[in-house]
Amino acid sequence: MKLILLGAPGAGKGTQADILCEKLDIPTISTGNILRAAVKNGTPTGLKAKAFMDAGQLVPDEVIIGIISERLEEPDCAKGYILDGVPRTIAQAEALEKAGIVFDSVVSLEVSDEAICERMSGRRVCESCGASYHVAAVPPKTEGVCDKCGGKLIQRKDDAPETVKSRLEVYHKETEPLKAFYAERGLLKTVENQPTVEAVSQAILRVLGR
Ligand code: AP5
Repeated sequence: MKLILLGAPGAGKGTQADILCEKLDIPTISTGNILRAAVKNGTPTGLKAKAFMDAGQLVPDEVIIGIISERLEEPDCAKGYILDGVPRTIAQAEALEKAGIVFDSVVSLEVSDEAICERMSGRRVCESCGASYHVAAVPPKTEGVCDKCGGKLIQRKDDAPETVKSRLEVYHKETEPLKAFYAERGLLKTVENQPTVEAVSQAILRVLGR
C-alpha cells in the first residue's frame, strides 16, 4: 500500500498517519518531522529549511525531492508507506511520478480553516520524538509529558496564529491543486472531518476498503 495523506496544516495528517502505520504495518514518512529533526541537529538541510519553516512558507522543492528520494530507497519502504506532508506542490508530485512511483490512493482530509485555527492553539508536540497531542482532543496521560518517550511537550513555533494564517494561505495556493492532479489520475478519496480522531481513522479505512 502506497498512500498519500493530503490536507491543510493541522488537518490531522500526522495523527492519522501514526494510527494507520500501525494498522497497515507500513512506515510513515513525514517531511515535516524529517525537517524538524534536521533543524534540531543543525544539518545543512536543517540550516536551509529553518527560515522557511519559521515563516510558514514551503521549503524549496529541490530540498524536499532530495530528502524524499533518499528516504524511499530505505529497506523499510519496500512493502509500502504513508506519505505525510509530501507532495505539497505540483512539482513535487511530478517528481515522484517521474521517479516511477505509483500510488494506490491519495486521501484528502477535509477540515475548515476555522477548525484548523482552533486546533493549532491546542496542539502540543514532544520535543524529543515529535509525537503530537491536543490539550482537549488528544491529551497526554500526564500534562506536559509525552506518553511515548517521557519527553517534554511544547508548542510548535509555527503554530503561532499569524504563522498558521500564512500556512493556510500557502496550502490553498500551492497544495490544494494536488486534489485535481490526483483526481485526474483516479486516486483521490476525500474524508470529511469527524467528531473524533477514531471516527476519522474509521472513515479513512472505509474509503481504502479496509
Ligand atoms: P508539517 O509538519 O508537515 O506541517 P503541516 O502540513 O503544516 O501539518 P501539521 O504537522 O501542522 O499538521 P497535521 O495535519 O499533521 O495535523 P496533526 O495530526 O498534528 O510541515 C511543517 C513545515 O515544514 C511546513 O510549513 C514547511 O515549511 C515544511 N515542509 C514540510 N513538508 C514539506 C514539503 N513537502 N514541501 C515543502 N515544505 C515542507 O493535528 C493537528 C492538531 O489537531 C493536533 O493537536 C492533534 O492532536 C489535533 N487533532 C488531530 N485530529 C483531530 C481530530 N479529528 N479532532 C480534534 N483534534 C484533532
